Amino acid sequence: MGSVATKLDPAALEAVVKGLTQAVAETSVTTMKAQNYHWNVKGMAFGPLHEMFQTIYEDHFTGQDELAERVKALGAHAVGRYDAFLALSKVTECDGHVDAQAMIANLRDDQRTIAGTLDALARTAEEAGDLITQDLAIERGTVHEKFAWLLDAHIQG
Ligand SMILES: [Fe+2]
Repeated sequence: MGSVATKLDPAALEAVVKGLTQAVAETSVTTMKAQNYHWNVKGMAFGPLHEMFQTIYEDHFTGQDELAERVKALGAHAVGRYDAFLALSKVTECDGHVDAQAMIANLRDDQRTIAGTLDALARTAEEAGDLITQDLAIERGTVHEKFAWLLDAHIQG
């Protein structure tokens, strides 16, 4: 019994690393966006929104590290450049000149996008026989789906 990294066939490994890298990219772009909103949010709900955006970017900073370090455990190169992240990411940047409602809706949509990427990664990893990456993708997907609900609840009702 070797480690997953030594057992994966090259095509399966490439597919898993590709999915992980996309998840790192989208988590990273969203880290910056949540921090941008943490800085630039305005209005009577400043306090709780400033804090919630901090909770999100702190989680994402840790999350992107876990995903990138899984790439390393698999023996591949971890992408660590913003231009590469932006090219890969389905999450886009925001200049921060939007109202609190739009910040919340944007971040909610981003959480759903990342959750979708992680769901696809979990399935790719399962197919590859890489249950460790599958577990990480499910764990991170659960966090992003929870943030999507948390953000969505602010702009419903
Ligand atoms: Fe701060």
